Amino acid sequence: MQLVVHVTGARPNFPKVGPVWRALAARGVDQRLIHTGQHYDDRMSEIFFRQLDLPRPDANLGVGSGSHAVQTAHIMIALEEEFLAHPPALVMVYGDINSTVAAALVAAKLHIPMAHVEAGLRSFDMTMPEEINRRVTDQLCDLLFVTSPEAIDHLTREGMPTDAIHFVGNPMIDTLLANLDRLDTAGVRAEFDLPDRYAVATLHRPANVDSPDAVRALVEALHGVADLAPIYIPLHPRGRANLVAAGIEAHPGIHLMDPLGYLEFIAMVRGSALVLTDSGGVQEETTILGVPCLTMRPNTERPITITQGTNRLVQVEDLVAEARIALARDPNAPHATPPLWDGHAGERIADIVVPWLAARR
Ligand code: UD1
Ligand code: UDP
Repeated sequence: MQLVVHVTGARPNFPKVGPVWRALAARGVDQRLIHTGQHYDDRMSEIFFRQLDLPRPDANLGVGSGSHAVQTAHIMIALEEEFLAHPPALVMVYGDINSTVAAALVAAKLHIPMAHVEAGLRSFDMTMPEEINRRVTDQLCDLLFVTSPEAIDHLTREGMPTDAIHFVGNPMIDTLLANLDRLDTAGVRAEFDLPDRYAVATLHRPANVDSPDAVRALVEALHGVADLAPIYIPLHPRGRANLVAAGIEAHPGIHLMDPLGYLEFIAMVRGSALVLTDSGGVQEETTILGVPCLTMRPNTERPITITQGTNRLVQVEDLVAEARIALARDPNAPHATPPLWDGHAGERIADIVVPWLAARR
């Protein structure tokens, strides 16, 4: 039996792996799910497994936090043992986190074929750890599953063979669409005492939350937006201490909370008038939900969410003015949807992986 091993590790991986896992399971593929332990708090990890009916990980490597080198190295050491103990016919990696690139390096040196889900995204900003992780991972993979057409151009320009590149749609959106009927919007409204009109913000990029100067400017801008509409902020652990130290809670319209479970988070976003974020996945989700999104970054690896979605990039100094414009927009205005973001990416991936495995048997 050929074993497909999925390597996951942090919050954005979990909604992506589910649709692929299920589609491969439906086709009778033997699979193993590895959790590196990069994220470990219940609300950053376990809650997704419960809410999204993900299989229990076959192994949790428990690597935890650390500097980039320490974390990546620990993942690599543990994964090498794991791949030697349970030899994969194919390793599948997701997104752009340290667990992704660590798995890619280990599998490549053990001559294990690899597939990258969400290949070819580029911010062209090498100060982002994710950009380094994506570029290295893509170079080492045999199958490159792409979520939007411009990623095909990036990969071909970087010399990847065209027959390795497959435009399949977006498994993150498979999960979103599959869960829309499960959202308890009224329950979330009651639980968090949400008003009719509110904004949601998420923040965790190092460029936004690691330096006190950046945090100070951001907090000032968020207070300006909170003058327009209350902001509910499920806060990633990375930014909490700096944002609180900079006085983010001093404005009565700012509501900090712990990270939310997936279903609560999507329900809160769906009911909101505006999202402010620096997340990758949230740019995609707001595009499908039709909620205006202001991305607090100088660039995005997901430009399709701007050209065919609801996203805009904003500098911190323009945040209040842009928020005012976005809040005035007609919430029922029709919006475009990126091609193939239709809920079937996992099946398309499985339809490529299964014959690929058969050809190598
Ligand atoms: C990681 C990814 C980033 C992704 C984000 C999604 C890398 C380089 N970065 O960033 O691409 O957008 O996840 O959320 O892989 N922490 C906790 N509890 C946890 C996990 C982390 O308290 O369960 C804290 C620790 O203090 C840790 C810090 O958050 O040092 C950062 O965690 P880490 O996984 O290194 O990076 P993220 O900022 O979460
Ligand atoms: N998310 C969640 N609860 C939260 C914040 C985010 O469930 O409180 C979900 C959301 O669906 C998002 C995903 O987690 O798309 C990944 O989020 P994150 O912003 O951490 O990672 P990124 O996409 O930036 O790598």
